[in-house]
Amino acid sequence: MPQHEIRNSQFAIRNFRAPGRVNLIGEHTDYNDGFVMPAAIDLSTWVKISPLEQRKLQILSENFNEQIEIDLDDQSLARRGHWSDYPIGVAVMLERSGRRLHGARLQIRGEVPIGSGLSSSAAVEVATACALVANSGLTIDARDLALLCQKAENEFVGARVGIMDQFVSLFGQAQKALMLDCRSLEFELLPLPDNIRLIICNTMVKHELASGAYNERRAQCEAGVKHLAKFVANVTALRDVTLEQLEQFGSDLPEVVYRRCRHVITENARVLAAAKALEQGDLKEFGRLMAESHQSLRDDYEVSSEELDLMVELAQKLEGVYGARMTGGGFGGCTVNLVAVEHDEEFSKRVAESYEQVTKLKPEIFICSASNGAEEV
Ligand code: GLA
Repeated sequence: MPQHEIRNSQFAIRNFRAPGRVNLIGEHTDYNDGFVMPAAIDLSTWVKISPLEQRKLQILSENFNEQIEIDLDDQSLARRGHWSDYPIGVAVMLERSGRRLHGARLQIRGEVPIGSGLSSSAAVEVATACALVANSGLTIDARDLALLCQKAENEFVGARVGIMDQFVSLFGQAQKALMLDCRSLEFELLPLPDNIRLIICNTMVKHELASGAYNERRAQCEAGVKHLAKFVANVTALRDVTLEQLEQFGSDLPEVVYRRCRHVITENARVLAAAKALEQGDLKEFGRLMAESHQSLRDDYEVSSEELDLMVELAQKLEGVYGARMTGGGFGGCTVNLVAVEHDEEFSKRVAESYEQVTKLKPEIFICSASNGAEEV
């Protein structure tokens, strides 16, 4: 199936898959019009869809073992704080964009761990969107579909997330990291060397309280922009500010806002440097940038947690590790580790043992490969 359109076909039951993601570097930069470098991973959400006569959706979640039904003409659909907000939000946004959906029965099965910073929500949104679009005989540009899924999460679910997760869930490619300019939505696929593995370590602490703190971070960045725009021309996002300009004009900012801005500005520079390091095959430098990113997220942006810090510290001591950092929104969830292939098993074993010893929590460890984006299967 071409990456850029989701087409209709004559089959009644169709299956779609959309992956979760791991972010290698560029955290909390997407909603600041900055740069990110995620990869789609081989953990996905599947949606099986079949048409219904009436304009209603029956949605079954295998994970929650629960089915809900909605009428597509119901104008009062709203967030309920329930798993179904994600697929319903996508349906509502498709309808609001002027597209008319056909009724359908959807069966959703997800293998991306929920609330772990691997974008289970984007995977559900994108798989649902692809399925609904196909079932309704529509065609949508994949960039527009990513934006529509983001809108569902922003306006229906109420989390003011950026575009990274939905974008990479659609555009990711096997063995590649995706470097995205979140302002222009231009991207580059950067080959990942064969001799490394992306190892994801789940601290098993869910980021349940995250959406309030996430939205708060966004507001702090906006406050920074508002202040800095008074002194620097053409500033509409932190993307437009250099570290020197922050140092020169940011002294009146509340200290917390100053640190939030510093994280975003330095993180953008790290993503660009990391892309260069990857192109030059300099994994040591890439790993050093990952370590800096973690520190900045911990100290300046304050979205790490004790468990994430511990997981990173334990990893950094092990052989074959180029880099380790928290990944995703933070406040719990997972770390991402760049590990030499020949050390992957040993790494997984040792990091899991040491983490469990200290925390009494048994971590999940995923030895992942960068994978393809959403597709019909
Ligand atoms: C969540 C959001 C993304 C991004 C990350 C932090 O995953 O969905 O848009 O902001 O947090 O980098």
